[in-house]
Amino acid sequence: MNPFTFFPPEAAAGAAPVDRAFFWLLLLAVSICLLLFVLIVVFSVRYRRCSKARRGKLPEIISREFEIGWTTATLFIAIFIFWWFVGGIATPTAAPRQALEIHVVARQWMWKVQHAGGASEIDELHLPTNTPVQLVMTSEDVIHSFYVPAFRVKQDVLPDRTTELAFTPTVIGTYNLLCAEYCGTQHSHMTGEIVVMAQAAYAAWERQQPHGDSLARQGAALFSTLGCAGCHSAQSTVHAPKLEGLFHARVALTDGRNVTADEEYLRQAIADPRAEIVAGYSPIMPGYAGVISTADLASLVAYLESLPATKGSR
Ligand code: CUA
Repeated sequence: MNPFTFFPPEAAAGAAPVDRAFFWLLLLAVSICLLLFVLIVVFSVRYRRCSKARRGKLPEIISREFEIGWTTATLFIAIFIFWWFVGGIATPTAAPRQALEIHVVARQWMWKVQHAGGASEIDELHLPTNTPVQLVMTSEDVIHSFYVPAFRVKQDVLPDRTTELAFTPTVIGTYNLLCAEYCGTQHSHMTGEIVVMAQAAYAAWERQQPHGDSLARQGAALFSTLGCAGCHSAQSTVHAPKLEGLFHARVALTDGRNVTADEEYLRQAIADPRAEIVAGYSPIMPGYAGVISTADLASLVAYLESLPATKGSR
């Protein structure tokens, strides 16, 4: 039972001990704080101006022993807390050998997840319950931090380096995944969901996933990272062409021509949008030539090709 109802749920094996440690440290801190406040009040009254209390220096010997005494006591309390944390509470980074290994790549501003079976997902992480999990993480750009409050785990994710995080989810449910390291303007949007499922449900989910990271999926990620949806979505207030079902469709241009939206059209529309303006739209989109790599451009095109026509989009 979690007595801290204002806390996130305790959804992993290591969560309860962390909360207990937090509680004891809080208790300790509050006790010291109260002691100090009481002493302040007592001394303020006792040594107020004109009071008869004895003043002057303490005898040398008392003063020295008192100093040594409280310094030693504090030192032992600190060492005890350290020993207590390292001994039992700190989550061991080394997971058991049979742990489910999952790769996580962070980038501005998303989480890419690659399951052992080849399934991949973005800003989502599906996990089986009661199974030790070992995350192997790295970053493509700056420092991020993988943070799941419900699991009481947090680990920095660094460029050019691999960090690991081990935990065992225990409660079925959906939990927040946050980035806990300021990593740029969209840092606060670098969130995701951890979906903890029954083991059989996870196995079924894993089987259903498309395996291997297709170009279109990479493009979808890029589409999200670059913020393309900010203009090219039904909810956007910006007047931009809809992209669903665009591939192979006929497009009327402002110069009167009618072209087919083939791969080359899509590529150019991203790299140099002003070359061919769609009739009825303003040339407001920035060109991405030189901004994104050729490979990224290819994945974006693949993503656009994969978008099915939605009702009323064409
Ligand atoms: Cu990634 Cu903050």
